[in-house]
Amino acid sequence: MDTKSPFSTVLITGASSGIGEAFAHVAAGEGHPLILVARGEAELHRVRGVVIARYAVPVSIIVHDLSVPGAGDALANELEARKLDVDIIINNAGFGLVGKASELSRQDQLKMIDLNVRSLADITLRFLPQMIAKGRGGVINVASTAAFMPGPNMAVYFASKAFVLSFTDALHEETRGTGVTFTTLSPGPVETGFQRRAGMKQARALSRLIPKTAMAVAQAGWAGFKEGERLVVPGTMNKITAYALRGAPRRMILPVIRRAMGAAKAK
Ligand SMILES: NC(=O)c1ccc[n+]([C@@H]2O[C@H](COP(=O)([O-])OP(=O)(O)OC[C@H]3O[C@@H](n4cnc5c(N)ncnc54)[C@H](OP(=O)(O)O)[C@@H]3O)[C@@H](O)[C@H]2O)c1
Repeated sequence: MDTKSPFSTVLITGASSGIGEAFAHVAAGEGHPLILVARGEAELHRVRGVVIARYAVPVSIIVHDLSVPGAGDALANELEARKLDVDIIINNAGFGLVGKASELSRQDQLKMIDLNVRSLADITLRFLPQMIAKGRGGVINVASTAAFMPGPNMAVYFASKAFVLSFTDALHEETRGTGVTFTTLSPGPVETGFQRRAGMKQARALSRLIPKTAMAVAQAGWAGFKEGERLVVPGTMNKITAYALRGAPRRMILPVIRRAMGAAKAK
């Protein structure tokens, strides 16, 4: 069975809304059984109900806070207790906070690292040896166009996504020829619950150049993953912006990003 088999089970973190919920529809639409993880039980049940009704695939839900210490162990124990095997992982759960690092809560910023970085790395490292042993499977790690640049006024978030991109690029190369596939999905701004939690204006208000919906983002990420692509940046404008900012001298782009992220803060 290879990565593309419709019978491979897909574990999606942050599947109760936004891009993770869209991924649930995309993967279930191709017949994959799902394991959906998030903190919100009611929302997970809602997504599960809709997905089962539309696609008639098995859907398990695990209500879990991935930012707490020992989250990886607890998730693995739950999977084992319920005899749930995982073939494909979509590490999507994440959040951002807009504001100066000196003014945002230190605890909240560290929680962001626990979720966006630690939990993503933990889940990946936990399942990687068995994927390689089986010679199949794969991981989509959700980063952001923020991964390509430092982000004054959103410093920890941008840095956390830089980790995701670097880590996933490296594992894409390490797993070459093993049957296991690694893809980074780096979306630009798209309207989801992300902006509210981050204390940002809605994505639509930030730019006219971001037509992407959560569904379009998930479809692009899934298609790229199946093709074995290392990196997917959905949307031409997002690609141009990300690559231009990555290549530009930092002393030039830092004030630009500081102003952009300052303006993105909800009043
Ligand atoms: N929207 C954007 O503009 C944008 C752009 C680039 C990248 N991204 C990335 O895309 C990913 C998905 O975000 P989204 O836009 O879909 O935002 P979203 O609608 O807020 O979804 C975030 C998901 O993560 C879950 N989650 C949050 N904290 C969690 C925790 N501690 N433990 C387990 N699950 C947790 C949430 O569910 P619960 O709250 O129920 O736990 C929810 O299902 C994130 O990694 C984000 O950084 C988003």
